[in-house]
Amino acid sequence: MMSTPRDIKNAENGKEGHPASPLPSPPDQPKLMPGGNYIQTGRDSAKSTCLIFAPHDDECGILAKFLKIFMKNDVNLLHIESRPSARLPGRYEFMVECAPSGDIASAILDVKDMSDYLNIISRDYRDNKDSVPWFPRRIRDLDKFANQILSYGAELDADHPGFTDPVYRKRRKYFADIAYNYKHGEPLPRVEYTKEEIETWGKVFRQLTALYPTHACKEHNHVFPLLVQNCGYREDNIPQLEDITNFLMDCTGFRLRPVAGLLSSRDFLAGLAFRVFHSTQYIRHPSKPFYTPEPDVCHELLGHVPLFADPAFAQFSQEIGLASLGAPDDYIERLATCFWFTVEYGLCREYNEIKAYGAGLLSSYGELQYALEGKAEIRPFEPEKTGVQKYPITEYQPVYYVAESFDDAKEKLIKYAATIPRSFSVRYNAYTQSIEVLDSKPQVEMLLGNIVNELSILNDALKKL
Ligand SMILES: [Fe+2]
Repeated sequence: MMSTPRDIKNAENGKEGHPASPLPSPPDQPKLMPGGNYIQTGRDSAKSTCLIFAPHDDECGILAKFLKIFMKNDVNLLHIESRPSARLPGRYEFMVECAPSGDIASAILDVKDMSDYLNIISRDYRDNKDSVPWFPRRIRDLDKFANQILSYGAELDADHPGFTDPVYRKRRKYFADIAYNYKHGEPLPRVEYTKEEIETWGKVFRQLTALYPTHACKEHNHVFPLLVQNCGYREDNIPQLEDITNFLMDCTGFRLRPVAGLLSSRDFLAGLAFRVFHSTQYIRHPSKPFYTPEPDVCHELLGHVPLFADPAFAQFSQEIGLASLGAPDDYIERLATCFWFTVEYGLCREYNEIKAYGAGLLSSYGELQYALEGKAEIRPFEPEKTGVQKYPITEYQPVYYVAESFDDAKEKLIKYAATIPRSFSVRYNAYTQSIEVLDSKPQVEMLLGNIVNELSILNDALKKL
């Protein structure tokens, strides 16, 4: 979960609106988040610095010369690997993962002197102008996020409806622990929800599903009955993340992954590049079924999930994720803002009508009606403008952005992504579930070969039509 909208009625003051829930701060501005304390723990592997370099010479024993550099600078190595260089055919490169120890900056200078090229991938990218912000390259790398959360889901703020309820707090810890220990490839743990939790779900389910036929976009209304049919979407049953993931994988290859707390925008958006959506699994406190200060299972499953089954929307979401990989901090903020005004609060045009597709609206009985009443300002979605729009987080949005279609929004986002200063292009390889960094001629040639294959399939199909 990133910081996301929540419904509905603030029972304390009788006003409708969103309780405070800011967008996650960049990693250098840790902030106390709703739901818990900033946790600054992390495995060494998540804080490590990776150096990828090709020595000037491929002479025998060259690795030993580089190892001496790390020894001299007291840098501990976690992983060493040699592999054929994708940039320099016939040559080898080394990938060395350094623990946060010793004088890495000095070691980097020495390695650079002895190499034809050097790439640095680091979480501490601000310390080095040559460094690219770390991003996951394989889907398994998302496991590293579990230790990088900005708040732990088991911790609650004093004004949280469940703050003084020891049973609820214990339950939240149970959910947070499931997510914290989850590893990619494992089945998503099934949860036996209590009678009280199912009743809370039922109240929200009944209220929102009454509005969907008139207020939700056609894609949401198309998918929802399929979720009822295939994933146990009923007012007397909270669907399981595993069943939903199996359904989404069949539709678009999207999958859910439990998350123990709030992720930074950078990490949350990176998940989307792999078609992975970080989802909560707990439910709001039963004392206030129409209010929650943070995303919960009602928001994720009723608001987000149906749209991830739509191919065009899935592609649009993945494009935001791909644009974020290795992007500078200010662009991460703009992409997160685009996410806010589309995936969370987006409206779309259907013939002469405006409908909702944002999960924050589709999980909020009050704001879903308000957004379509015509009282708020409506503007066309334009990433370069939308991405810098300020927005309130404790009340209804004063401005909403309208997409002509998901394909149109995707094209606009791809054009915008091309303006992000990055020295490389990225592509998701669905076969290997990994990100390919296209920064050399052989890699681009390989991509071209793939496109030629696709074109010949297209050509063949057109001939047979
Ligand atoms: Fe959300």
